[in-house]
Amino acid sequence: MERPTHRIKMKCFVFMAVLSFHLCLGDLRYSISEERRRGSTLGKIAQDLGMDTKTLSSRKPRVDFEGTKRYCDINHQTGELVVNERIDREALCGQKQSCAIHFDFFLENPLELHRVTLEIQDINDNAPKFKNEAIDIEIRESAIKGARFSLDEAYDPDLGTNSVHSYTLSNNEHFILSPKGADRGRLPEIVLENELDREKQDRLSLILTAYDGGSPQRTGSVVVNIRVLDANDNVPVFTQPVYEVSLHENVPVETVVFRVSASDADEGPNGEVTYEFSYLSIDSENLFTIDQKTGEIKVKGDIDFEESSSFELRIRAKDGAGQATSCTVLINVVDVNDNAPVIIIKSLNTPVRENLPSGSEIGIIYVQDKDSTSNGDIKCSIEQQVPLKLVPSVKNHFALVTTTELDRERQAEYNISLTATDGGAPPLFSSKTFHLSVADVNDNAPIFEKQLYSAHVAENNKPGSSVLSVTAKDTDWRQNGTVVYSLLSSDVNDAPVSSFLSINGDTGVIHSVRSFDYEQLKSFKLLVLARDNGSPPLSSNVTVSVFITDENDNAPQILYPSPDGNSFMTEMVPKAALAGSLVSKVIAVDADSGQNAWLTYHIIKASDPGLLTIGVHSGEIRTQRDLSESDSMKQNLIVSVRDNGQPSLSATCAMYLLVSDNLAEVPELKDMSHDESSTKLTFYLIIALVSVSTFFLTFIIIILAVRFCRRRKPRLLFDGAVAIPSAYLPPNYAEVEGAGTLRSTYNYDAYLTTGSRTSDFKFVRSYNEGTLTADLTLKKPQSAVDDLEGLDADMSDSLQPDLTGIRNHFMR
Ligand SMILES: *[C@@H]1O[C@H](CO)[C@@H](O)[C@H](O)[C@H]1NC(C)=O
Ligand SMILES: *[C@@H]1O[C@H](CO)[C@@H](O)[C@H](O)[C@H]1NC(C)=O
Ligand SMILES: *[C@@H]1O[C@H](CO)[C@@H](O)[C@H](O)[C@H]1NC(C)=O
Repeated sequence: MERPTHRIKMKCFVFMAVLSFHLCLGDLRYSISEERRRGSTLGKIAQDLGMDTKTLSSRKPRVDFEGTKRYCDINHQTGELVVNERIDREALCGQKQSCAIHFDFFLENPLELHRVTLEIQDINDNAPKFKNEAIDIEIRESAIKGARFSLDEAYDPDLGTNSVHSYTLSNNEHFILSPKGADRGRLPEIVLENELDREKQDRLSLILTAYDGGSPQRTGSVVVNIRVLDANDNVPVFTQPVYEVSLHENVPVETVVFRVSASDADEGPNGEVTYEFSYLSIDSENLFTIDQKTGEIKVKGDIDFEESSSFELRIRAKDGAGQATSCTVLINVVDVNDNAPVIIIKSLNTPVRENLPSGSEIGIIYVQDKDSTSNGDIKCSIEQQVPLKLVPSVKNHFALVTTTELDRERQAEYNISLTATDGGAPPLFSSKTFHLSVADVNDNAPIFEKQLYSAHVAENNKPGSSVLSVTAKDTDWRQNGTVVYSLLSSDVNDAPVSSFLSINGDTGVIHSVRSFDYEQLKSFKLLVLARDNGSPPLSSNVTVSVFITDENDNAPQILYPSPDGNSFMTEMVPKAALAGSLVSKVIAVDADSGQNAWLTYHIIKASDPGLLTIGVHSGEIRTQRDLSESDSMKQNLIVSVRDNGQPSLSATCAMYLLVSDNLAEVPELKDMSHDESSTKLTFYLIIALVSVSTFFLTFIIIILAVRFCRRRKPRLLFDGAVAIPSAYLPPNYAEVEGAGTLRSTYNYDAYLTTGSRTSDFKFVRSYNEGTLTADLTLKKPQSAVDDLEGLDADMSDSLQPDLTGIRNHFMR
C-alpha cells in the first residue's frame, strides 16, 4: 500500500543521504504493504532517480539482496520496482513494530549504488488463532462466585489493531468473560457468575471467540470444554427419613428385616455410602446387625414380642469423606401366639367358711398371657360343676365367687380345675387345679333319729337299768358335731324327772333311777335335749314317752261281797226265781291292768253245787235251775277271783244267799246278823263315805288349782287322772293312762246298768281286735299313742263327765 505522505518524507531523506555519502548516490525508501501480488509495482525507481527509462535500462540496473530472497526486481522497460517474491511482514519481521527489507540497487556506467529500503506495512491478513483446537479446563464445583479462570489467548501475528483485539464468550449460565482481560492484553479470563453443580451438569462447552481490530475484522474461535469436578458437597440421602417395617417375632437368625438405601450424588469416594447404626439400645444391639455395604438389616438374636414390641434403629449413612445422614427404622414386632396363658392364683380363702352368702368372693385368679391383642384375650372357666364361678374383673383378673351357699356337710372339699384359653389361632390353653376345702360352721343342730321315742319299762324294775337309748346325729365337724345329751328338767308327779331317769351325756342311754310302780305312774313324758359343742351351741329336743308296763303285783281285790265273809253281806233270793235269773254279783277289782287285771270268777265251793253258777268274766251269780222247796234256804258259795297275770293272783270270798221272799221268814237271820259286824260295817261305811268325800273335796281343790296354774304344768299333773269317757271300756281294760281304782268301780257300775251280756260281748270282742298278742302282753299301736296325745288336750273336757260319774256313784 502506498502512502504518499510517507513517500515524500522518504524522498527528502533519500536526498539528504545522497548528499552525505559519495559512493552512495542516495537511499531510496519505499513504503509498501505486505502481501502484494507478484509483479505489482512497488515504486518508480527511474523516476525517483531522475532518469528516463532508456537511460536506466542502458545502465544495467540490478538489485542485489545479498543472499536473501529476491523479493523484488527491476523492470528494465518501465524502470519500476516490481514484486518478485511474496512479501509477508509476519514472516519477515514477526511482531516487530517496523519491518523493512533492504537491498542494493546498482547502476553501471557509472557505477552507482543506491540503498533501497522497503518499509513493509502490515495489513490484516491473519485471523486470531488459538493454539489448540479446544481448551479443556477442570473446575471444582465448589468454586465460589467470582472465581476467575484464565483461558488460552488467541494469537494474531498481525500488528496493532490487526492483532487480537477482543474476545467474546458464547452464552451460558455460569460464566462471563472478564471484561478486563482483553483490555490489558492479558489472557482472557472467565469469571464464575453462577455456581456450578456437578450433579446437575458436569460438563460445559463454551465457545471463546477472539476478534482482531482489523478491517475487515477477523475472528478465531476455540471450544472451551469445562469439566466440573466433584466436590463432596452432597451428603448421602436416604430414600425415606423414617422406615416402618413389621417383623414377626421368633423369626430365625439371619432373616433380612429391611434394607436401607441412601444415595450420594457425589462421585467416587465422595459418593461411596457405608451404613452403620448410629445409636442402638443395648437390647437392639444383640438383635440386629447391619451390612456396611448393602445396608441390609438382619436379625441376630431372638425377637420376642413380649420383651419388646418395637425397635427404633437409627442408621447412619456415611460417604467416603465422612459426610453422613441418618434415618430411622421403626421395627414393629408382630405378635405370634407363642405364649400359653398362665393361671396364677393370686389369693384363695381356703378353707372357706361354709355358710358364706352366695356371691361371696373367695379368691382372685389372674391369667397371664404375654401375647398381645387377641393372642392375649383370655377366657377362663371352671371345668367341673361346682358352686363357684369366675367373674371377669380388671384386666385378666377373675374373681372366684360362690354361686350358692357352700355346705360342708354336702361337700367338704373341691378340686377345682381352671382352664384358660387365649384368643390366638390356634389358641393355646393351660389349666390348673387347686384344692378348696370348706371350713365347718356350726350350722347343723343335732337331729334325733326318731321324732318320738317311747320306752316300755316294766314296773318294779331295778334302779339303774337302762330304759332306752336315744341317738342324735350332728353332721358338723369335730366339736361342732359332737352331741351331748341331757334331760330337760320337768316334773313328773311333783318330783323332778331326774329322780326318775338319768341320761348318759355321751351315749344317750337313759337309765332308770328308781323302781317304777305302774299303779302309781303309768306313763310320763320327758324331753331329751341334744346339744352340740359348737359355739354358740345348737340343740334340739325330742319327746320320750315312757310307758310303765304292768306286772301282776296286785291280787284281785273283792269289793263285794266283803271279803272277810261277813254274814251281813247276805243276798236275798226270791223263792220263785227261775233258772238263769240273776241272784247276785261278785264285784272285784285288780289294781293291775290288762291281763293282770282280767279277772275270772269261779265258784270253788258251793253248798248246793248244781244250783248256782257264776259268770266267768262277769261275776254274776245266776240260778242254774228253778228253785224248789226242797232247796235249802241258805246257800253258801266260796268264790275265787283270779287275775290273768303270770303267775296269776287270786282272792276268794264267801257269798251267803238266803232263798226267801221275806226276811222275816228267816229265823236265823238274827243269828246271821251280828250287831257287832253290823256296827263294824256301819263304821266302815262311814269311813268310806268320809274318805270318799275328802277325796272328792281334794279333787275339787286340785281342779281349781289346776285351773289356776294350768299353764305351768299342764301335762304331768294330770297324767294319772285323764279320764276315759267311754262307758264301753271293759272294767279291766289295760288302760295305762286312766282307770284308777275309782274309775274301775264306776265303770263296773255302768255295766250293771247297761246290761251284762252286751257288755261282755263287747269286752271280749275288743280284746280280740288285735290288742292282745300271742304272748298276751299288751302292745299299743301307734294310733293308740296318738290318741293319748289327743286325750291330753281333751283333758279338761273329759274331766267333767268323769267327775259327774264319780259323784253319781257315791250318791247311789
Ligand atoms: C382332690 O384331689 C386329691 C389329690 O389329688 C384327692 O386325694 C381328693 O380325693 C380329691 N378330692 C375330690 C373331692 O375330688
Ligand atoms: C365350729 O363352728 C365355728 C363357727 O360356728 C367355727 O368357728 C369353728 O371353727 C368350727 N370348728 C371346727 C372344728 O370346725
Ligand atoms: C324343743 O324343741 C322345740 C322345737 O323343736 C322348741 O320349740 C322348744 O322350745 C324346745 N324346748 C326346749 C325346752 O328347748
